Amino acid sequence: MHALEEVICSCTLVTYGQVYKLAQQNLSFEDIVRRSGACSGCGSCQFEVEELIEEVGSNVGKHNN
Ligand code: FES
Repeated sequence: MHALEEVICSCTLVTYGQVYKLAQQNLSFEDIVRRSGACSGCGSCQFEVEELIEEVGSNVGKHNN
């Protein structure tokens, strides 16, 4: 687990917290990229961003069911 204020995307300085919040709104990877700007540079953070979204997604699922 990463601290929410930690930067997930060093190109855009988007933090884990920013992606986390968007992921909690059940947005797709593309939407989260569009809204936060994460992953819009070199793309090397894509795996990390996707993983975080998945993580949040599975937590959301647990709470809803
Ligand atoms: S580190 Fe995220 S686009 Fe480069």
